[in-house]
Amino acid sequence: MLDLARKRIVLGMTGGIACYKIAELVRRMTEQGATVDVVMTEAATHFITPVTMQALSGRPVFVDAWDARVPNNMAHIDLTRGADAVLIAPASADFMAKVAHGMADDLLSTLCVARACPLLVAPAMNREMWANPATQRNVETLRGDGVTILGPSAGEQACGETGDGRMLEAHEILTDLIAFFQPKLLAGRHVLLTAGPTSEPVDPVRVLSNRSSGKTGYALARAAREAGARVTLITGATFLPIPRGVTALPVTTARQMHDAVMASVGDADIFIAVAAVADWRVKNVSTQKLKKTSEGGGAPLMEFEPNPDILAEVAKLENGPWCVGFAAETEKLAEHAEAKRTRKGIPLLVGNLAHKVMDADTTELVLFDAQGTHPLPAGNKLDAARRLIAEIAARMPV
Ligand code: C5P
Repeated sequence: MLDLARKRIVLGMTGGIACYKIAELVRRMTEQGATVDVVMTEAATHFITPVTMQALSGRPVFVDAWDARVPNNMAHIDLTRGADAVLIAPASADFMAKVAHGMADDLLSTLCVARACPLLVAPAMNREMWANPATQRNVETLRGDGVTILGPSAGEQACGETGDGRMLEAHEILTDLIAFFQPKLLAGRHVLLTAGPTSEPVDPVRVLSNRSSGKTGYALARAAREAGARVTLITGATFLPIPRGVTALPVTTARQMHDAVMASVGDADIFIAVAAVADWRVKNVSTQKLKKTSEGGGAPLMEFEPNPDILAEVAKLENGPWCVGFAAETEKLAEHAEAKRTRKGIPLLVGNLAHKVMDADTTELVLFDAQGTHPLPAGNKLDAARRLIAEIAARMPV
């Protein structure tokens, strides 16, 4: 299912050079299934034309409060009735000041006052305008009124200065908008996860690792964040971008992963061990690059020793977090998974067939808990992760 399926969004644009990013945003929103009604202030039309926004949204664009196309001439009421949210991007300092004070002197500001749905605002302005005490007061007023403020971020600005006030990128606004609509099942919780592979040195240039892509763990980190949790992700090397709003701590070896988990676990409410941790590490790591041991290319002898079992150790902690483990098996999933759950002493274990899901974008999860076996519907890893977060939230002690 698309992330914004059946959502109708009123997208308000105010005057600012960041208007150019909204063309891309509208494209991505409609791709995700949203119906987008664009409303522009007169100032916004100086930066990008209503024609562009109409072509991208596939719907009429509104600028004028006196637009005769609206049968009852009440665009400010009609546009927001039945809408799931009003999103203002870019939001100028002037427009935020107006909304903070309930002013209604054009179509967009009037529909903000007249709306019956949530309001999200993505500020975009010069750093001095953002830092101005009046702007900051207005932002606080808006927050106090229940408005969601997206960003801004810091960086180079169109005016040539550098600092806070840059509007978020289109993909960041999209991610935040999608997250906004997810149920806040883990609000106030701290979720600690491990993800990706570990890799164990053999010599200064070689490692032993596995084919874990990190996709399931990263999807879970995103889903936990969307559910309102604070998220710490201890991650082995992957090619994936860190999910928005997630604190990531990169590690390489199992022992580093162990130490990072132990340092973060103190105030964690939930621990989800998704990482494919190497069970053994090389005992006789060579300080120099290993050479072929004979003319025929003879292999060196490697000795192994066990790595700490991070999940089992966390599960044993007194007043530790609620633990969720993963089992990637290549056969006899149910048998191995339930045995693992009991052995590790955890309330929930998530099983999947390793050869089917490793590095894939889809997954098929089966839950094992004290009540038995619960298969989840197959699907993409983000949908599966959201479903799993809901299952975890439902099982968590209050
Ligand atoms: O013991 P096994 O590797 O089969 O168990 C898999 C589960 O235990 C996964 O949740 C994995 O993240 C976790 N694990 C761990 N530390 C290890 C090995 C596995 O946390 N050393």
